[in-house]
Amino acid sequence: MSRVIAIDGPSGAGKSSVSKRVGKMLGFLHVDSGALYRIMTWQCLLNGIDTSSTDAVAAFASKVNVDCVPRGGSIVYFINGQEPGDAIRTPEINKHASPLATVKAVRDRVTAWLRDMVRFGDLIVEGRDITTAVFPESPARFYLVASAEARAERRRKEEIEKGIANQSTEEVKRSLLARDAIDSTRKHAPLKKADGALEIDSTYLTIEETVQTVLDALPADWKHEITAETGA
Ligand code: DC
Repeated sequence: MSRVIAIDGPSGAGKSSVSKRVGKMLGFLHVDSGALYRIMTWQCLLNGIDTSSTDAVAAFASKVNVDCVPRGGSIVYFINGQEPGDAIRTPEINKHASPLATVKAVRDRVTAWLRDMVRFGDLIVEGRDITTAVFPESPARFYLVASAEARAERRRKEEIEKGIANQSTEEVKRSLLARDAIDSTRKHAPLKKADGALEIDSTYLTIEETVQTVLDALPADWKHEITAETGA
């Protein structure tokens, strides 16, 4: 049976960098669940769906098809044969994704896609409800947090590196706090620390230190396959 490492936490807490590195070191496929909510949002906007209407979003969600394919250590996504790329990383998608992720039909569809991915092998899955709702039985569950200031600075740095920065750090911080508020107060599968998950505050930790904290807390027999590869 496939093993799953589950990592939840708010935007910018370091989930992506940490889970990509840990995945590479252990040979677990990296799964970005947020990208699936972003794809749903992108498809709704492209098709003129009124994202404020739960019924319209729910009806549309059942028709969206995403092909999930393992490639280069991660699961990548295709919609109608195309990879979305940075089209799902715009401020508009940032703004609409959290409200859309409150819709139960959207969550159910994304959860089914995520659970189905165990057929590809061992996974490290990052998101907001992976430890609480998608894979609550995993023996390796983590809740990664950091101060809002540190998170906003990291997000802006990533956007600059990708050449898609168009907001100040203060605007990035406002946007991620607004998303945190929606994600952690919604009715279905809100962002919260799961009972039994290990909370890691990465505000003053390097990526390497955070990676090591995750590795140290894994079940002993999962660590046999650690390679020297840092994924840097
Ligand atoms: O991690 P991200 O910023 O790419 O996620 C985009 C949105 O998707 C985020 O605001 C909340 C939602 N999300 C969720 O509700 N559950 C998940 N497992 C992952 C993301």
